[in-house]
Amino acid sequence: MDGAVEIIDQTVLPKEVRILRLHTVPALVTAIQSLAVRGAPALGVAGAFGVALAAQVHADDPAALAAAVERLEHARPTAVNLARGVRRVAALLPQGPAAVLAEACRVRDEEIAASEAMARRGADLMIELCGKRSRLLTHCNTGALAAVVLGTALGVVRELHHRGVLAGVIASETRPLLQGARLTAWELGRWGIEHRVAVDSAGPFLMARGEVDGVILGADRICANGDVINKIGTYSHALGARRAGLPFVVVAPESTVDLNTPSGDVVPIEDRGSAEVTPWSEAVNPAFDVTPRDLVTAIVTDRRVIRLDQGERP
Ligand code: MRU
Repeated sequence: MDGAVEIIDQTVLPKEVRILRLHTVPALVTAIQSLAVRGAPALGVAGAFGVALAAQVHADDPAALAAAVERLEHARPTAVNLARGVRRVAALLPQGPAAVLAEACRVRDEEIAASEAMARRGADLMIELCGKRSRLLTHCNTGALAAVVLGTALGVVRELHHRGVLAGVIASETRPLLQGARLTAWELGRWGIEHRVAVDSAGPFLMARGEVDGVILGADRICANGDVINKIGTYSHALGARRAGLPFVVVAPESTVDLNTPSGDVVPIEDRGSAEVTPWSEAVNPAFDVTPRDLVTAIVTDRRVIRLDQGERP
């Protein structure tokens, strides 16, 4: 990091691959809030490097440094990774900018290693649950864009493709910002994985009609009781999967497991306001929802498989 944090601007994909070089914490906070950088693990890494940036920019101004760290920590409220990444790296501030940067690099490297571990473990589980020619439905974007490399749920999808046991993917479009239609479809296309996009409301019907063998998606926060917070629309897919008797699998790194949050009803759900939904009316726009633990078959992390359907808890 030479005085800037570099990100791929996810707001302009798939039309354009644009790299943003962010030289200030306010610019990074704006990038986080506009979803130029998004996805729980990527937010943790962005927050970590944001603190490293702040440590360089405000080396001689402790009050400005503290304010910058505070702004980063609260830039978005729901994914636990952001606040966690910020706080972890900020703990090194008394040791100076070099120590802070080294810790930020460790946060990034751990997420990279976590993606690889989740892909292997998740693929083993999906073969066990869905068989050797599975058609999977996924929601939002959980690929390399959301997790630095490879991804969480989408990393598992890619691993299944490499093992030759994937029979197709449905990416639900993910209203209103279309992370599925724009980002997941783009990543699957680059990986050469056969896929189709479906409107969000089609998911449960496609499951009922027998066109899906399992649902696999990510999380922004996993609560101590197993409740899963993820992109709005996750809960409907979980209900559809339960009704159709399909496995519903969540893939997320340990950095997304938040044992300090007892259950989903106390998680702050970001409300992104009307403009993203419709110009014609006031809208209600919760960016995330809570999927109760009893609808989740299993959670795969980089260290374990938690079988909620067998009574296990995070
Ligand atoms: O609002 P976003 O796009 O940041 O929401 C992201 C999601 O909900 C993802 O599904 C989740 O972070 C898992 S990312 C690996």
